[in-house]
Amino acid sequence: MRVLVTGAAGFIGSHLVRALLETGHTVRGIDNLRTGLFWRVESLLNEFEWMQADICDPDAATRAVAGMDAVLHQAAIPSVSRSLEDPVASSHANVQGTITLLQAARLSGVRRLVYAGSSSAYGDTPTLPKVETMHPCPMSPYAVGKLAAEQYCKVFGQLGFVETVCFRYFNVFGPMQDPNSAYAAVIPKFATALLKGEAITLQGNGTQSRDFTYVANVVRANLLALQADGTRVNGELFNIGCGQRYDLNYLIRELGTILGVEPRVERLPRRQGDVPHSLADINKAKELLGYEPVVHLPDGLRHTVAWCREQLPSA
Ligand SMILES: NC(=O)c1ccc[n+]([C@@H]2O[C@H](COP(=O)([O-])OP(=O)(O)OC[C@H]3O[C@@H](n4cnc5c(N)ncnc54)[C@H](O)[C@@H]3O)[C@@H](O)[C@H]2O)c1
Repeated sequence: MRVLVTGAAGFIGSHLVRALLETGHTVRGIDNLRTGLFWRVESLLNEFEWMQADICDPDAATRAVAGMDAVLHQAAIPSVSRSLEDPVASSHANVQGTITLLQAARLSGVRRLVYAGSSSAYGDTPTLPKVETMHPCPMSPYAVGKLAAEQYCKVFGQLGFVETVCFRYFNVFGPMQDPNSAYAAVIPKFATALLKGEAITLQGNGTQSRDFTYVANVVRANLLALQADGTRVNGELFNIGCGQRYDLNYLIRELGTILGVEPRVERLPRRQGDVPHSLADINKAKELLGYEPVVHLPDGLRHTVAWCREQLPSA
């Protein structure tokens, strides 16, 4: 297939570009490098078509989807904190970007668009695990935007404009996730702090839990979504996680064990807009997509620590 990856220089997008190339697809990637890092795809420039452009620009979106069979749409400003600081920019990239891309895909005759939605759409509802049929309850501008874009995707699918498959990813982690950003996800941030002999900065008391999902599982889900029967998956929403949750205190202990160090922890107040617990029900993805997690947290942590260590040769 000819597949466009949006957010191709992003953490997940760059893994998707690699996986698509390895499985024989023809790949184009678009990214405006707003949060993306060019080095993630630089070594692949001879193997795929790279476009540095903004999906909110209708002309760029049209050029990006031209001739493509499918789109794996990862581009977004993917952060709760960033959306609290600048909700307008967050909405522009995440909502306006998605609708611009959907319309371009529709007009170009793209067969299918797979959307990277977020478990943050479930918000603070106490019931666990989260099932796709639950009423959403977003708690941050980021979550509102991801949910709004998801709804646009669903409607475009239902109207027959372009087939859509919507995912809600649960806390994705793995190699190539940026540990240095002020908005870094906890796993690369904690691992890098320990490798440098620094204290871990923990927001909250560490009892908040997540369905941490190694990136290979998300890649697997996207590849399955490209092949799935449209009559079964068009306009549908799927949780993509592992179906297991771990709290941050466990994570810190486990990272300490892998690295053979005793973690030092500095505690800060709980982050605004943060949900206390999250856990995916993945039965729908199993049933309709044939999805199964391929790497669970302990192995995923080891792969991620190994990668973080390579980035710090002195560690
Ligand atoms: N990482 C997670 O745990 C997680 C969880 C749930 C959902 N998601 C979703 O998965 C997707 C990928 O997340 P990620 O962790 O790889 O983040 P990332 O920041 O590494 O990747 C997003 C990419 O999109 C690009 N981008 C942003 N706005 C753009 C625009 N207007 N035009 C073109 N490119 C643009 C960025 O430069 C970046 O490279 C996002 O849609 C995010 O909301 C991620």
